[in-house]
Amino acid sequence: GIDPNFDSNREKVGEEELEELRSSASQTEFGEGVDVWGPVEPPEKLGIHGTHVAVDYDLCVADGACLENCPVDVFTWVETPDHPESERKVEPTREDQCIDCMLCVDICPVDAIDVDGS
Ligand code: SF4
Ligand code: F3S
Repeated sequence: GIDPNFDSNREKVGEEELEELRSSASQTEFGEGVDVWGPVEPPEKLGIHGTHVAVDYDLCVADGACLENCPVDVFTWVETPDHPESERKVEPTREDQCIDCMLCVDICPVDAIDVDGS
């Protein structure tokens, strides 16, 4: 599953790598203002997206239960063509709205989500 200490074990990626990420995604844009924690090497390695609500893009298999069940609609789909696990991922676009219910953390079949360092 996702490393709950990602914010100390990984580096936040800069604007240049963010641009590279954005151009690797089609149709939908990555959330503005959502931090990404590297390493990032599109299209195979896409990093961890978000800080309070963090999604490991390299683990996510696009199950969708998080997005369908979040009571405050934190997540939006992003297309990720050619990623080995799945061709779309959930971006924690409205992570500032999270009410820490932990539903997404508990429901994800591959343990790809961490909320508030839990
Ligand atoms: Fe949504 Fe609850 Fe997950 Fe926060 S912890 S993103 S409110 S499902
Ligand atoms: Fe991905 Fe898990 Fe959600 S696989 S779509 S983070 S339930």
